[in-house]
Amino acid sequence: MAFLRLKWISTDLLASVCHMKRAVCPGSFDPVTLGHLDIIERASAQFDEVVIAVLVNRTKSSMFTVQERMEMITKTTAHLPNIRVDSWSGLLVEYCKSNDIQSIVKGLRAVTDFDYELQMAQVNLQASGVETMFMATAPAHSFLSSSLVKELAHYGGDVSSMVPKIVNEALKARVTESGN
Ligand code: PNS
Repeated sequence: MAFLRLKWISTDLLASVCHMKRAVCPGSFDPVTLGHLDIIERASAQFDEVVIAVLVNRTKSSMFTVQERMEMITKTTAHLPNIRVDSWSGLLVEYCKSNDIQSIVKGLRAVTDFDYELQMAQVNLQASGVETMFMATAPAHSFLSSSLVKELAHYGGDVSSMVPKIVNEALKARVTESGN
Protein backbone atom coordinates (compact mmCIF):
# COMPACT_ATOMS: atom_id res chain seq x y z
CA MET A 1 0.00 0.00 0.00
CA ALA A 2 2.76 2.35 1.04
CA PHE A 3 4.60 1.35 -2.12
CA LEU A 4 1.53 2.18 -4.24
CA ARG A 5 1.12 5.59 -2.59
CA LEU A 6 4.82 6.31 -3.18
CA LYS A 7 4.37 5.30 -6.79
CA TRP A 8 1.38 7.67 -7.20
CA ILE A 9 3.33 10.51 -5.65
CA SER A 10 6.30 9.94 -7.90
CA THR A 11 4.06 9.70 -10.98
CA ASP A 12 2.34 12.97 -10.03
CA LEU A 13 5.69 14.58 -9.46
CA LEU A 14 6.94 13.33 -12.80
CA ALA A 15 3.80 14.65 -14.53
CA SER A 16 4.14 18.06 -12.98
CA VAL A 17 7.83 18.21 -13.91
CA CYS A 18 7.05 17.11 -17.47
CA HIS A 19 4.37 19.75 -17.88
CA MET A 20 6.42 22.50 -16.35
CA LYS A 21 6.10 25.63 -18.45
CA ARG A 22 9.65 26.84 -18.81
CA ALA A 23 10.80 29.95 -20.69
CA VAL A 24 14.07 31.68 -21.37
CA CYS A 25 14.68 35.44 -21.36
CA PRO A 26 17.87 35.74 -23.43
CA GLY A 27 20.03 38.80 -23.86
CA SER A 28 23.41 40.40 -23.42
CA PHE A 29 22.28 42.16 -20.22
CA ASP A 30 25.38 44.39 -20.34
CA PRO A 31 24.14 45.54 -17.85
CA VAL A 32 20.62 44.57 -16.78
CA THR A 33 18.25 47.57 -16.80
CA LEU A 34 14.88 48.32 -15.18
CA GLY A 35 13.37 47.57 -18.61
CA HIS A 36 14.82 44.05 -18.54
CA LEU A 37 13.65 43.55 -14.96
CA ASP A 38 10.11 44.61 -15.87
CA ILE A 39 10.01 41.92 -18.58
CA ILE A 40 11.62 39.33 -16.28
CA GLU A 41 9.10 40.00 -13.49
CA ARG A 42 6.14 39.79 -15.84
CA ALA A 43 7.50 36.61 -17.48
CA SER A 44 8.01 35.02 -14.06
CA ALA A 45 4.26 35.44 -13.43
CA GLN A 46 3.41 33.58 -16.66
CA PHE A 47 5.71 30.54 -16.45
CA ASP A 48 6.65 27.93 -13.86
CA GLU A 49 10.31 28.66 -14.38
CA VAL A 50 12.13 31.43 -16.24
CA VAL A 51 15.80 31.10 -17.10
CA ILE A 52 17.64 34.35 -17.64
CA ALA A 53 20.36 33.41 -20.11
CA VAL A 54 23.27 35.77 -20.52
CA LEU A 55 24.32 35.18 -24.11
CA VAL A 56 27.43 36.27 -25.88
CA ASN A 57 26.40 38.64 -28.67
CA ARG A 58 29.19 38.40 -31.26
CA THR A 59 28.31 41.81 -32.69
CA LYS A 60 28.82 43.74 -29.42
CA SER A 61 31.79 44.41 -27.18
CA SER A 62 30.92 44.28 -23.50
CA MET A 63 31.56 46.46 -20.46
CA PHE A 64 30.95 43.70 -17.90
CA THR A 65 32.09 40.09 -17.91
CA VAL A 66 29.46 37.37 -18.25
CA GLN A 67 30.08 36.48 -14.58
CA GLU A 68 29.53 40.09 -13.47
CA ARG A 69 26.35 40.33 -15.53
CA MET A 70 25.03 37.09 -14.04
CA GLU A 71 25.76 38.30 -10.51
CA MET A 72 23.89 41.56 -11.10
CA ILE A 73 20.88 39.67 -12.46
CA THR A 74 20.95 37.15 -9.60
CA LYS A 75 20.97 39.93 -7.00
CA THR A 76 18.24 41.99 -8.64
CA THR A 77 15.89 39.03 -9.17
CA ALA A 78 16.38 37.47 -5.73
CA HIS A 79 12.75 38.32 -4.83
CA LEU A 80 11.44 36.09 -7.66
CA PRO A 81 11.26 32.41 -6.63
CA ASN A 82 11.12 30.84 -10.10
CA ILE A 83 14.12 32.52 -11.75
CA ARG A 84 17.36 30.78 -12.68
CA VAL A 85 20.35 32.65 -14.09
CA ASP A 86 22.66 30.96 -16.58
CA SER A 87 25.02 31.75 -19.47
CA TRP A 88 25.48 30.34 -22.95
CA SER A 89 27.71 31.05 -25.89
CA GLY A 90 26.09 29.02 -28.68
CA LEU A 91 22.80 29.06 -30.51
CA LEU A 92 19.85 29.97 -28.34
CA VAL A 93 17.71 27.14 -29.70
CA GLU A 94 20.40 24.61 -28.75
CA TYR A 95 20.23 25.94 -25.21
CA CYS A 96 16.44 25.59 -25.25
CA LYS A 97 16.65 22.01 -26.51
CA SER A 98 19.15 20.87 -23.90
CA ASN A 99 17.26 22.58 -21.05
CA ASP A 100 13.72 21.49 -22.01
CA ILE A 101 12.63 25.09 -22.65
CA GLN A 102 9.59 25.58 -24.88
CA SER A 103 9.40 29.39 -25.10
CA ILE A 104 11.63 32.38 -25.62
CA VAL A 105 10.39 35.64 -24.08
CA LYS A 106 11.51 38.95 -25.57
CA GLY A 107 10.52 42.51 -24.74
CA LEU A 108 9.50 44.73 -27.65
CA ARG A 109 10.18 48.40 -27.04
CA ALA A 110 9.12 49.93 -30.33
CA VAL A 111 8.60 49.12 -34.00
CA THR A 112 12.33 49.59 -34.50
CA ASP A 113 12.87 46.34 -32.54
CA PHE A 114 10.30 44.48 -34.54
CA ASP A 115 12.04 43.69 -37.86
CA TYR A 116 15.09 42.07 -36.27
CA GLU A 117 13.15 40.32 -33.51
CA LEU A 118 10.62 38.92 -35.98
CA GLN A 119 13.43 37.55 -38.14
CA MET A 120 15.09 35.87 -35.16
CA ALA A 121 11.78 34.46 -33.92
CA GLN A 122 11.06 32.97 -37.34
CA VAL A 123 14.55 31.49 -37.73
CA ASN A 124 14.35 30.00 -34.24
CA LEU A 125 10.88 28.56 -34.89
CA GLN A 126 11.96 27.02 -38.18
CA ALA A 127 15.18 25.64 -36.73
CA SER A 128 13.70 24.09 -33.62
CA GLY A 129 9.97 24.64 -33.10
CA VAL A 130 10.70 26.82 -30.07
CA GLU A 131 8.11 29.61 -29.82
CA THR A 132 8.98 33.25 -29.21
CA MET A 133 6.57 35.33 -27.15
CA PHE A 134 6.85 39.10 -27.36
CA MET A 135 5.96 41.20 -24.38
CA ALA A 136 5.21 44.89 -24.83
CA THR A 137 7.68 46.94 -22.82
CA ALA A 138 6.06 49.21 -20.25
CA PRO A 139 5.87 52.74 -21.76
CA ALA A 140 8.12 54.08 -19.00
CA HIS A 141 10.95 51.89 -20.35
CA SER A 142 10.34 52.10 -24.08
CA PHE A 143 13.44 54.23 -24.75
CA LEU A 144 15.72 52.27 -22.46
CA SER A 145 18.63 50.12 -23.62
CA SER A 146 21.86 48.88 -22.07
CA SER A 147 23.82 50.69 -24.80
CA LEU A 148 22.16 54.01 -23.97
CA VAL A 149 22.77 53.48 -20.26
CA LYS A 150 26.48 52.76 -20.90
CA GLU A 151 26.81 55.81 -23.12
CA LEU A 152 25.23 58.10 -20.51
CA ALA A 153 27.27 56.58 -17.67
CA HIS A 154 30.46 56.94 -19.71
CA TYR A 155 29.95 60.72 -19.86
CA GLY A 156 28.95 60.99 -16.20
CA GLY A 157 25.20 61.15 -16.86
CA ASP A 158 22.71 60.14 -14.18
CA VAL A 159 21.28 56.69 -14.92
CA SER A 160 19.86 56.04 -11.45
CA SER A 161 16.27 55.99 -12.75
CA MET A 162 17.14 53.44 -15.46
CA VAL A 163 19.00 50.70 -13.62
CA PRO A 164 18.88 49.02 -10.20
CA LYS A 165 21.04 50.62 -7.48
CA ILE A 166 23.75 47.94 -7.56
CA VAL A 167 24.05 48.30 -11.33
CA ASN A 168 24.34 52.08 -11.03
CA GLU A 169 27.19 51.60 -8.55
CA ALA A 170 28.90 49.01 -10.76
CA LEU A 171 28.66 51.37 -13.74
CA LYS A 172 30.20 54.26 -11.81
CA ALA A 173 33.02 52.00 -10.59
CA ARG A 174 33.70 50.66 -14.11
CA VAL A 175 33.77 54.16 -15.63
CA THR A 176 36.18 55.34 -12.90
CA GLU A 177 38.38 52.24 -13.39
CA SER A 178 38.58 52.75 -17.12
CA GLY A 179 39.67 56.37 -16.51
CA ASN A 180 37.36 57.85 -19.19
O1 PNS B 1 20.47 41.82 -25.59
P1 PNS B 1 20.76 41.51 -27.04
O2 PNS B 1 22.23 41.72 -27.34
O3 PNS B 1 19.88 42.26 -27.99
O4 PNS B 1 20.44 39.95 -27.24
C1 PNS B 1 20.55 39.32 -28.50
C2 PNS B 1 20.72 37.82 -28.31
C3 PNS B 1 21.99 37.54 -27.50
C4 PNS B 1 19.51 37.27 -27.55
C5 PNS B 1 20.82 37.16 -29.71
O5 PNS B 1 21.89 37.70 -30.40
C6 PNS B 1 20.95 35.64 -29.62
O6 PNS B 1 19.98 34.94 -29.44
N1 PNS B 1 22.22 35.14 -29.75
C7 PNS B 1 22.52 33.72 -29.66
C8 PNS B 1 22.90 33.11 -31.04
C9 PNS B 1 21.61 32.82 -31.79
O7 PNS B 1 20.90 31.90 -31.44
N2 PNS B 1 21.32 33.68 -32.78
C10 PNS B 1 20.01 33.73 -33.45
C11 PNS B 1 19.83 32.79 -34.58
S1 PNS B 1 20.55 33.31 -36.06
